[in-house]
Amino acid sequence: MGEKPVVLVTGAGRGIGRGIAISCAEAGFDVAGVDILYDPANKDSGLFELQRKVEEQKVSFLPVQGDISALHDHERILKEILDFYGKVDVLVNNAGIAPEKRRDVLTTTADSFDRVISVNTRGTFFLTQRVAVQMIEHSKKGCLKNPCIIFISSISAEVSSPSRAEYCISKAALSQAAKIFADRLTEFAINVYELRPGIIQTDMTAPVKEKYDKLIKEGLVPQRRWGFPEDVGKAVVALAGGFFSYSTGLVLEISGGMNIRHL
Ligand SMILES: NC(=O)c1ccc[n+]([C@@H]2O[C@H](COP(=O)([O-])OP(=O)(O)OC[C@H]3O[C@@H](n4cnc5c(N)ncnc54)[C@H](O)[C@@H]3O)[C@@H](O)[C@H]2O)c1
Repeated sequence: MGEKPVVLVTGAGRGIGRGIAISCAEAGFDVAGVDILYDPANKDSGLFELQRKVEEQKVSFLPVQGDISALHDHERILKEILDFYGKVDVLVNNAGIAPEKRRDVLTTTADSFDRVISVNTRGTFFLTQRVAVQMIEHSKKGCLKNPCIIFISSISAEVSSPSRAEYCISKAALSQAAKIFADRLTEFAINVYELRPGIIQTDMTAPVKEKYDKLIKEGLVPQRRWGFPEDVGKAVVALAGGFFSYSTGLVLEISGGMNIRHL
């Protein structure tokens, strides 16, 4: 087992997950990045571009291919990481998807509903369960540093978007999952946090970039700018660094002030 704390980031191949992995590397974490997209021949994007970037910080990176919605594969994913690092100190549940097509709540399809829930909620829930059991074992032996689990939900856990109900529902359910794991894991001194990003510039939001450029300019976001993956990455480091050790179950918005209700 290495000296450095190990962070497991799901959906690390791009966007917010990539930003979290880089921020954690800068803070001295060894990183395991899991992503469904895995192309060792391509060193210029995805997990293998990230590997170069992370290793510049003199920490280690393990790229792991994995689809978190495939529950039967969770054992293999975790085994690869434990074989390499021996432990996981911090789990960041970041992998998530949006509906392929935005549809009004009156026409949402069951296929889209099941697809979004299977990744954002079901896959994340059961991966957390498996990793938590492992963390408990290691924590009891005193092997972990500030063990914690961080859920990347969304402001959509709370905010209604009638054109992507299944996404909002998946994140609201994830928010409850975070609360329940927080409650259950206090006994083992494993803190659980929920981060709710607002409007973050990534591939996920690329199709609606123009729409949000305009809305942000008009004041939808009080801080009047897009969020960036590093905004979420820095918050993860603050939590994973143990600075909020007396605050399990904490819910934090990273949304440029969209949490402020104003007249
Ligand atoms: N971008 C935003 O504005 C925003 C806002 C709030 C919350 N979020 C949440 O943040 C997380 C990351 O979003 P993003 O904008 O970086 O998205 P993104 O689509 O740019 O990146 C998501 C990454 O997750 C991977 N992934 C998707 N399904 C997977 C699966 N089944 N198993 C493993 N990996 C998988 C993708 O390959 C990709 O690398 C998501 O959970 C999203 O819901 C995003």
